[in-house]
Amino acid sequence: MKNRINELLEEINQMVASNQEELETLRIKYLSKKGQISELFNDFRNVANEEKREVGQLLNELKNSAQDKINDLKEAFSSSATVESKMDLTRSADPIKLGTRHPLSLVKNEIIDIFSRIGFTITEGPEIEDDWHVFGALNFPPEHPARDMQDTFFIEQNPDVLLRTHTSSVQSRVMAHKKPPIRMLFPGRVFRNEAISYRAHCFFHQVEGLYIDKDVSFADLKQALIYFAKEMFGENTEIRLRPSYFPFTEPSAEMDISCNICGGKGCPFCKHTGWVEILGCGMVDPNVLENCGIDSKIYSGYAFGMGVERITNLKYQVKDLRMFSENDVRFLEQFESAY
Ligand code: DAH
Repeated sequence: MKNRINELLEEINQMVASNQEELETLRIKYLSKKGQISELFNDFRNVANEEKREVGQLLNELKNSAQDKINDLKEAFSSSATVESKMDLTRSADPIKLGTRHPLSLVKNEIIDIFSRIGFTITEGPEIEDDWHVFGALNFPPEHPARDMQDTFFIEQNPDVLLRTHTSSVQSRVMAHKKPPIRMLFPGRVFRNEAISYRAHCFFHQVEGLYIDKDVSFADLKQALIYFAKEMFGENTEIRLRPSYFPFTEPSAEMDISCNICGGKGCPFCKHTGWVEILGCGMVDPNVLENCGIDSKIYSGYAFGMGVERITNLKYQVKDLRMFSENDVRFLEQFESAY
């Protein structure tokens, strides 16, 4: 009996199981009612009385060892099966690297933030447009070069479906549906059929501003733009307005700011003039108001439009426009800002 117990103990110590089924077979073999250990318990009554105490103890130990071994093997399966049992929940978490906003989004958000403080709200319009909203309503003569195939992307050979070349198109949509006062910004992406280089791209971003009300004057426009320039580029920034031409404004102007890179002294960026152009603007042409169903005898307004890439270049001195659309994280992760 003692030999048999030792044999089984040996067997049990060496027991291995690679899955639940094998383990169950072993349990049945040793521990079930008809298992080998249970049989030894049945034979126990034949053990001589003087040996009963010792053999009984050995038998109990054998049974416990078998049970422990089976439990251990079971534990090994279940811990490899569940991730949780391998997790150390007391470990501190790995820091997650935070992304940064795209520089164009930062600058666009900053422009929006500055104008929202003087009452401008935001509206967006479609990138795929028709001729009327991009050109016709905005007083472009039919033969205006901006409609030319070289500038505008037309869709499916249908000259009435095109990718907007400027966000001024949202002006014509808003004015046709909304009664003044209108004080809005139209941010968005625009498209032009240009060869891609460090200074031109076939798509870029603009923010358009529009204010229509009774008695809006050029002085109001100038005041809003001075406020914007100082908020965006610093208190010491100066502006100058040069007469210009846009079909949808009369009079029209282009606005320069004192070069914020050299402080107006002259540098390669401002071509040694001390000034850099940042936007176009003007008083909304009465024809445009009438085209959009607004009575030009009662209402007047101003508009302005700026390129987000241009403002971003000035703020961050990005030399190559293509960087904005290449999604190189080494470039993108340099921009951190409250916006
Ligand atoms: N739409 C013009 C462009 O893309 C920019 C512009 C100029 C917008 C004058 C205006 C404006 O609202 O008044 O070049």
